[in-house]
Amino acid sequence: MTKPLSFSAFLMNTANHNLHGLWREDEGGQRDFNDIDLWISLAKRLDEGGFDAIFFADVVGLYGNHRGGWKYHVEKGLQIPSNDPMVLLSALAVNTKNLGLAFTASPLQEHPFNFARRVSTLDHISKGRIAWNMTTGFLDNAFRNFGYEGMVPHDERYKWLDEYVDVLYKLWEGSWDEGALLKDKESGIYADSDKVHKINHVGERYKVEGPHLVAPTPQRTPVLFQAGSSPTGRDFAARNAEGVFIKAPNPEIARKQIEETRRIAIQHGRDGKDLQFYQGLSFVIGETEEEAQRKAIELENKVDLEMMVAHMAGGAGIDLGNVSLDTPLDDVDSQGMSTFFNWVKQNTPKRTPTVEDLARYHVRTIRVVGTPESIADQLEQWQKAGVDGINVISATIPGSYEEFIDHVLPVLRQRGLARNPDEEQTTFRNKLFGEDRLNKRHPASEYRGAFAPKNLV
Ligand SMILES: Cc1cc2nc3c(=O)[nH]c(=O)nc-3n(C[C@H](O)[C@H](O)[C@H](O)COP(=O)(O)O)c2cc1C
Repeated sequence: MTKPLSFSAFLMNTANHNLHGLWREDEGGQRDFNDIDLWISLAKRLDEGGFDAIFFADVVGLYGNHRGGWKYHVEKGLQIPSNDPMVLLSALAVNTKNLGLAFTASPLQEHPFNFARRVSTLDHISKGRIAWNMTTGFLDNAFRNFGYEGMVPHDERYKWLDEYVDVLYKLWEGSWDEGALLKDKESGIYADSDKVHKINHVGERYKVEGPHLVAPTPQRTPVLFQAGSSPTGRDFAARNAEGVFIKAPNPEIARKQIEETRRIAIQHGRDGKDLQFYQGLSFVIGETEEEAQRKAIELENKVDLEMMVAHMAGGAGIDLGNVSLDTPLDDVDSQGMSTFFNWVKQNTPKRTPTVEDLARYHVRTIRVVGTPESIADQLEQWQKAGVDGINVISATIPGSYEEFIDHVLPVLRQRGLARNPDEEQTTFRNKLFGEDRLNKRHPASEYRGAFAPKNLV
């Protein structure tokens, strides 16, 4: 039997997330991302329409330089201004019933003791629907915003994340035993102090005594997502993640990435099915193939290609702002972007690819164009490659999601490729894996009971 795919709305609390410049369209509701009503009505629609999660990407700094400085980013609204996704989720939690609520944060942003407390509070508020996308951060300006001279080297960032999650696992899983919270009116005992423990973490970067200030939440540890693709990043995901975000250019490359990460997970004592993979895709939907293709061209002509370049190059730490869009890629220094450059060259066989091709390639590779039926055919291919879910990228908010819910999901349901909207409220982990808590194969589970005096050596 076909296993239904999961669907998550891939967003950012800003006007320009992935497909840049579309806030200028009449239907570009993301223009008003400061308005909470936009997000509440979208989240309700996703919840009722059968989406499994809303996922917010986030960065805490500028995307490098473009045209020699950062004024361009401000003038274009390139991920500035942007608002905190965690705070936003508390409002969405009380306005939705079943939707998983995922946000992104890196160790750079907050001490793990306080982060653990805020995440646990959100898990209580949402009755167990919180997920965290564990990122290391990758923007130089972000590190400078938090007192560093510049970006911490790549593998050191992952080492930092390793210790960060270790502290969090101790607080979330080990500090409070099951049954510690009594709320016993008779005896006047609120919590059993024998069942609450200090964690006394001492590591390279952190010293945390504990106990965790928040009593166990429905999930304890939030659902853990990750999106790194380097060997170190993949190893981190294989050990820690339950959901992995990928942006593969085709199902075959997705298959390789998925199989490789699952293989490493098994080496670490986990099961291949302990990890679910979410491919990022945008959709252009038509009543006929011709209409869909025409809409795709119209949409592509509205995307701000220079912003696409500024985003990609900025993320790789280079400035292509003084290079015109018609410059051949062969004349551009590909440092930090060689994978992208090679893909574009391979996919532009009959002429010399340019910087414009680079920008268009990014719009096209992660896009599915067609009728609801042919979109379903293509999603079947992604599923056969091992993909568990789709992270739906929007052109406009809320229109892109409304179209998907109204036209694509019903066809997917007929084929068993999408679930019906959930009736019963469960935790997000239960929805994905059938249980509220992390399973015993996850490293965090080792801390359960580990700090009880009888278990301390
Ligand atoms: C689909 C996807 C979404 C991502 N979202 C974010 C994000 O919101 N914030 C962030 O700082 N990094 C984000 N990243 C970057 C990764 O978290 C990671 O830091 C980056 O890929 C570098 O790690 P790596 O060298 O292991 O690939 C994302 C990556 C992918 C593929």
